[in-house]
Formats: sequence, structure tokens, C-alpha cells
Amino acid sequence: MSGSKEVLNVGIDLGTSRSAVSASNGQQHVIESYVGWPVDMVARKVLKKDILIGDEAVANRAMVDLRRPLERGLIKEGSEKDITAVKEILNHLLKLVGVSKDKKAPTVRAVVGIPAEAMRVNKQHLRNALQGTVDSLMIVSEPFAVAYGLDALLNSLVIDIGAGTTDFCVMRGRLPTEEDQRTLTVAGDSIDELLLKLILQKYPDAQITVYMVRQWKEKHGFVGSAQQPVKVTAPIKGRPTPLDITDAMKTACESIVEPIAETLLDLLPRIEPEFQEQVRNSIILSGGTSQIAGLRKALQDSLEPLGGGAVKSVKNPVFDGADGGLAIALDALDSEWDQLT
Ligand SMILES: Nc1ncnc2c1ncn2[C@@H]1O[C@H](COP(=O)(O)OP(=O)(O)OP(=O)(O)O)[C@@H](O)[C@H]1O
Ligand SMILES: [Mg+2]
Repeated sequence: MSGSKEVLNVGIDLGTSRSAVSASNGQQHVIESYVGWPVDMVARKVLKKDILIGDEAVANRAMVDLRRPLERGLIKEGSEKDITAVKEILNHLLKLVGVSKDKKAPTVRAVVGIPAEAMRVNKQHLRNALQGTVDSLMIVSEPFAVAYGLDALLNSLVIDIGAGTTDFCVMRGRLPTEEDQRTLTVAGDSIDELLLKLILQKYPDAQITVYMVRQWKEKHGFVGSAQQPVKVTAPIKGRPTPLDITDAMKTACESIVEPIAETLLDLLPRIEPEFQEQVRNSIILSGGTSQIAGLRKALQDSLEPLGGGAVKSVKNPVFDGADGGLAIALDALDSEWDQLT
């Protein structure tokens, strides 16, 4: 099918908080995974749109019914609106790289990376969402896409620490199976929730939202010892007040270390004994949350009970998943695609 017609290959990283796309025409974009519908006729008149996607939806959240349809890595079951929202996100990403429904050419082949555990549940939703826009589809697990893009296909372990989930994938030189993968729901979102709770314990009257807390975490997040106190400002009874959130930040960020370390200590001994050491020394961290200061080192230290290992971080946590998807698309044979048209 790809013989005569021009083909556009696309890699999409469908994330809980951010979704990215890389295409074979050189286009690369990232958006916030939010969709908003104006709440009433006033909002619609102010916004002059029927639907808002990405940053625009978040910025106008007071005027829209705001959805983040992939919370915890799954399209929320049974919600038609969330399924529609996923469709809007995917089609928006495709539009950004020049693909639209009324296209005549080229043929579009898309690899979509999603959290490992969501694979079974969400495949049909994704297929329906892309019907009519994409000609050939392949759905892969997010960490596998990252591994493929980095050419870390043999005896390595990718840990993708995103917003909704932390996904593990052991690479053994072939397509990963269910046994090679794990998903935890501790990641950026669970840190944000805990951080919000801890700050409110210390400052019960502080007027803070999860959006504010997330920004503080992205700027000051750390595990281990603090380089300097974390001080922020937020209103208390309307008056801007300095808050010291150092301890809350440390506790919230460190909350993901133990579950991730435990999963590592469970996964690694299951690998064939002669390859264990090599895998332990090729652990790759990706995803936005992997940028927390000190996290890489803390996870590396957690390998001590197994004799130690090496954990490194990817260079580009925003586009590694999408780039990996694109690399898969470029290499896949016609027979390896799910044909939608
Ligand atoms: N510099 C930073 N330090 C700490 N956390 C960060 C930083 N930058 C982004 N994050 C966090 O990373 C998360 C987003 O990462 P990413 O884009 O990999 O997730 P996602 O792909 O949307 O989610 P998932 O993979 O779970 O579906 C958010 O929780 C965000 O707050
Ligand atoms: Mg992700």
C-alpha cells in the first residue's frame, strides 16, 4: 500500500499531562492533554470557539468544562465526553503536523504510544478515534517507544515516569510481552496531590490549587537533601504570604522512590540470570517526572541490594516517546500495521 502513494509517518506520545507528536516531514509539537468546552453561551461568545485544546483550555479553565481525559493513564471508562476529548487531542496533534480529515494524500501511518497497562482497555477507543484520519495504526507501550527511539533494544530497562503513571519495560531484543512490563500509578500527579495535602496541613488557610503546586514542584522538586529551602508565595485570606514548603516538597517527591525501587527489585531477578547484570547497568529514565533533582541517583542507590547498577536519564524527556514512535513507523513492514482504511 505504501508503494505508489506518498506516505507520512507519525509518532504520537499520548500522555496524561502532555502529548507530543513527531512526523517524518520534520514537524514536532507538544500540547497539554487538556480539552475544554465553553460552559455556556457567554463563554462561547467570549472564547469564540466551540472547543479549546491544550494550553488555551487550561488558561481559560473558568469558562470551560475542562477535561484531562487520560487520568492515570486510562481513558476514563464509560465517559463519552472523555473519549471525544481523546479524539480531539489526537486529531489536533495530527493537524499540527499537516494531517486533516479531508486530506486526499498522503497516506498516514501513525504509531501511538500509551501507558503499558492501558493497552488492552484502550485499543478500540483509539482505533475509533483515528478512523478516517489515519490509514495505518500501531499502538505500542510508551516505554517501548522510548527504548526503540534510543536503540536500547537489548538487555536494557526503560522507566518512563510521567504524570499519571510510571511505566517499566524490559527490553530483550524482541517485542516486549506483558511479563516484561509494569505500570504503577505513582508519578507526577500523585506527587502533586500529596504536596497539596502536606502544604495544607502546615498552612490550613493557604489558598492554593493543584496547578500552583505542580509549578512549584517542576521548579523546586527534589529528593535527598535540600540544596536550599523551598520558599513560595501564596495568598492566605487574600494576602500574599511567604510559605516554606521544603519538607512537604521532599516528602511528596520521595513518595515515588520506594514503589519504583520495589518494582525494580521485583522485575530484575526475573530476567535470565546471565543478562541481569547487563540490564541493571542499562536502566534508562524518561518522562517529565524523571527530571526531579536527585531522583536518578536515589534509584541507582536502590539497586545496591542486587549488587548495584547504573541509571541514566534521557536527554529529551519531551520528545523521546514521539521520536521513538516515529522510528518504529519508519521501520515497520506493511504487514505489521493495523489497517484502518
Ligand atoms: N522539571 C520538572 N521536574 C519535576 N517534574 C516535572 C518537571 N517537568 C515536568 N514535570 C512533571 O512531569 C509530568 C509530565 O511528564 P510527561 O509529559 O512525561 O507525562 P505524560 O506523558 O503526560 O504522562 P503519562 O506518561 O503518565 O501518561 C507532570 O507531572 C509534570 O508536572
Ligand atoms: Mg508519557
